[in-house]
Amino acid sequence: MNNCPIGMFDSGVGGTSIWKEVRKLLPNEDTIFLADSKNAPYGEKSEAEIRSLSVKNTELLLGWQCKLIIVACNTATTNVIDYLRKTYDVPFIGIEPAIKPAALKSTSKTVGILATQGTLSSSLFHSTAENYAAGIQIIEQEGTGLVPLIELGKVDSEETRTLLKRYLTPMIAANIDYLVLGCTHYPYLVPVLKSLLPQQVKIIDSGAAVARQTKAVLEKNHVLKEDGKKGNSVFYTNANLHTLKGFLRDSGTIEVTRLDF
Ligand code: DGL
Repeated sequence: MNNCPIGMFDSGVGGTSIWKEVRKLLPNEDTIFLADSKNAPYGEKSEAEIRSLSVKNTELLLGWQCKLIIVACNTATTNVIDYLRKTYDVPFIGIEPAIKPAALKSTSKTVGILATQGTLSSSLFHSTAENYAAGIQIIEQEGTGLVPLIELGKVDSEETRTLLKRYLTPMIAANIDYLVLGCTHYPYLVPVLKSLLPQQVKIIDSGAAVARQTKAVLEKNHVLKEDGKKGNSVFYTNANLHTLKGFLRDSGTIEVTRLDF
């Protein structure tokens, strides 16, 4: 089991932001990443559709003997991770918006969250917000249109900037001091977000926390890869190979393959 890969999936290229954190913390682990870009965005789909896509991705990864699966997508995590955990006998690590740390650190007591419609309407997101952000005003904003633009590699286009300006205006007016990124595609927007937000607003996402949790679970289950060799990383996309490669440009030699799934 120790030498089996970690499996990861996302609705597209966004989950590579999580893969980069995992790679940094666990460089010796083998990883297999599925970018389901053909079916992006998940955020505007029904829970039943998100479930069937997540099941398809999970079963493909389990066919490759993955020892743990990272659901590198807030939308899939907040909607279907309970179902996946009940259905499959493998540990799942999910990603949820970092509402709790933002609420704890906020001094203006006002926090912004940018996430997909699917995440913001999920009961898991609501219970987290109720449990950990009492007394904090949360300005929720659906990032409609952002995932399709990022899927085209347009992270700093005029269209992207126009949408972000519109989405950030009410948050800035409400005096947020933290912006929570509740979608794994959005870390790629950080340079643009910084240029649009007042300097004192801090941006947080959950990528590093996911990597730490992955390490903790592998340790607890005694399944860390222990041969001391650098891990092998394989990426599959069912859409544009070139776009996925673009998001991995800074990650060294990486195997990226087109696969129909
Ligand atoms: N990366 C996904 C997430 O974290 C994007 C969802 C979508 O495809 O709309 O929510």
